[in-house]
Amino acid sequence: MSADLRSTGGRTVLCAADDVPPGRMLRVVTGDAGPLLVSNVNGTIHVTDDTCTHAEASLSEGDLEADRVVCPVHWAEFDLATGKALCFPASRPLAVYRAVVEDGMVVAFLARRSA
Ligand code: FES
Repeated sequence: MSADLRSTGGRTVLCAADDVPPGRMLRVVTGDAGPLLVSNVNGTIHVTDDTCTHAEASLSEGDLEADRVVCPVHWAEFDLATGKALCFPASRPLAVYRAVVEDGMVVAFLARRSA
């Protein structure tokens, strides 16, 4: 599932918070930052790149397990809060973006916090 992007003044509205209930993930296609992964870990929203750093799979098609996303292709795992690659075959982290929920919408600040 993908959502549309709306961007104003450095803040980017990615989706409605209701689109990503606890335990779910959503792929959001952006212009400048590329596809993003919005995930909800026990009520905490995380925004990372959606593309696996190993071989470019869409992580939104993988599994959300606790606070990790598992790649659907070769099963690398990434910490959604830090972007850290947790196991082979991925070694490079995901970019992580600051995100907040405002007025029921997920808003991201797309300057990279990590890469
Ligand atoms: S494409 Fe994700 S682990 Fe290989």
